[in-house]
Amino acid sequence: MLTVQVCVGSSCFLRGSKTVIAEIKKLISEYKLDAEIILKGSFCHEKCTGGVTIMVGEKLFTGVCPGDVHELFEIEILPLISKA
Ligand code: FES
Repeated sequence: MLTVQVCVGSSCFLRGSKTVIAEIKKLISEYKLDAEIILKGSFCHEKCTGGVTIMVGEKLFTGVCPGDVHELFEIEILPLISKA
C-alpha cells in the first residue's frame, strides 16, 4: 500500500490542491489502483512554493501544478506500485 498525501494547507490550496486531488483520484480509478494507493490530504509541510506539495511515500515533491500530475503519477507513483 502506497500513501500519497496532497497538502491542503492554505498556500497549496490556493495553488490548486483541490484540482490535484481530483486528478490523482481520476488516475487511481483509471489504473484501477484503489486497493494499492491511499490518497490523503495533509497540512502544511512548510515547503510552500509556487505550486502544490505532494508526498509520495517518504518522497516530497514541491511546486506541483495540476498539469504536472499525470506525468508525476506515471513517473513517480506507478513504479512504486509495480515494486509492491
Ligand atoms: S501550504 Fe502546502 S506546503 Fe505549505
